[in-house]
Amino acid sequence: MRRTVIAGNWKMNMTPSQTKAFITELAPMVAGMDKCDIVLCVPYVDIATAVEAAKGTNIKIGAENVHFAESGAYTGEISAAMLKEIGTEYVVIGHSERRQYFGETDTTVNLRTKAALAAGLKVILCLGEVKDERLNGITNEIVRMQTKLDLLGVSAEEMKNVIIAYEPVWAIGTGLTATPEQADETCGVIRGALCELYGCEVAEATTVQYGGSMNDANAAELLAKVNVDGGLIGGASLKTDKFTAIVKAANA
Ligand code: 13P
Repeated sequence: MRRTVIAGNWKMNMTPSQTKAFITELAPMVAGMDKCDIVLCVPYVDIATAVEAAKGTNIKIGAENVHFAESGAYTGEISAAMLKEIGTEYVVIGHSERRQYFGETDTTVNLRTKAALAAGLKVILCLGEVKDERLNGITNEIVRMQTKLDLLGVSAEEMKNVIIAYEPVWAIGTGLTATPEQADETCGVIRGALCELYGCEVAEATTVQYGGSMNDANAAELLAKVNVDGGLIGGASLKTDKFTAIVKAANA
């Protein structure tokens, strides 16, 4: 059956020295909590420090984006091979902040996803509706379309290395959370789209996380839902006690 994955997305927070201190503090707090995978996705400059600090622990390290070209004239960008060589295991792709502030589209998200998978990285693919789309009743259409566009050309075999993070944009950093029922329903719609693309066996084996103001207080009821296989956590992943409480909820 599919794994529950609790992943932190630090966004643009933490320096390398803060990263080292955080992981050193977190590691004993989450030791032995092995019913879920524990991942921290951190800024590029923190990755090497994070990988070193997480050695010998059950914490895995990811990046927050990756470029789609193998190499070349892309000033300021980072390739999948660069990430791989420094020990990065996961990468977040298609986060709504990338889509909103940095012009990411389903096309570039798809290209990045394929490049990351080809390099042997595990992808945490983010998608979700904006507030107006939910209010207009087209959430299901939006997430189905994003799922299918973002995964164009990704094989059933490669899906072993893909996690989907359902992140309703209106719930990110706002303190508003989807209700457990909304999260369950929309994660289920995404799984339905995966079933159409790859067959239901692959869909049933794919981890679909919820993200958007998940915290120590609401994690247990969200994670209790059958279609919610973990969380992608922003704000609450920056505090060792809050993040540990979410990992604990996933291990209950
Ligand atoms: P918050 O948990 O801060 O709402 O952020 C969610 C998120 O964007 C994770 O990728």
